[in-house]
Amino acid sequence: MKAFIFDLDGVIVFTDQFHYQAWKKMADSMGIYFDETINNRLRGVSRAESLEIILERYDGTLSDAKKAELMEEKNNSYRELLKTMTPADVTDAVRDTLKKLREAGYKLAIGSSSKNAKFILERVGLLDAFDAVSDGTNISRSKPDPEVFVKAGEFLGMEASECVVVEDAYAGIDAAKAAGMEAVGIGDASGYAKADYKIRSFEELLAIAGIHTR
Ligand code: BG6
Ligand code: MG
Repeated sequence: MKAFIFDLDGVIVFTDQFHYQAWKKMADSMGIYFDETINNRLRGVSRAESLEIILERYDGTLSDAKKAELMEEKNNSYRELLKTMTPADVTDAVRDTLKKLREAGYKLAIGSSSKNAKFILERVGLLDAFDAVSDGTNISRSKPDPEVFVKAGEFLGMEASECVVVEDAYAGIDAAKAAGMEAVGIGDASGYAKADYKIRSFEELLAIAGIHTR
């Protein structure tokens, strides 16, 4: 194991509520029912697929142009909310753990479905904390397809067998396994049987990396 690839939303930062508020505003404007339970199904899923899930509650069909407009509307409100993020939105545990992994010689990358990944990393002051960023802007298929993690491994110059993925979404664990990588489940995915390791707190990665702390 030489590299860690981190999902962003739900692992490094918590943007679920922002996604929820932005989609809720769009859904309300269309008279579509939307709640937190439906929002949970959007975890790890691309923007376009998220819209399709929300439209399951819509009576009728929409043109591709209208769908593009709704996605843009959602993304604009989402980015307004992201602008409120600051370095204080990353816990000390996350920041310290990333630092210790790097000091121990591990390469670190982001593997996120989001097209806003770099914007978020910039807001929270973590752009320099990673050696590579693979995100929604460099993939054509989203998780559970392995593409985002395969690309992250390539950007780092690592073999899949040298990479371990840290994920909070079931679709993300499936994507990591499909890429031939080890997978750590955290948060929602800490209960997923397919994860090779299951952790409750971010610092537990240090033990997985063989770094011993006192
Ligand atoms: C993932 C989130 O990280 O990014 C999903 O878990 C989201 O909920 C997806 O839909 C795409 O994000 P964005 O920022 O490109 O709309
Ligand atoms: Mg996630």
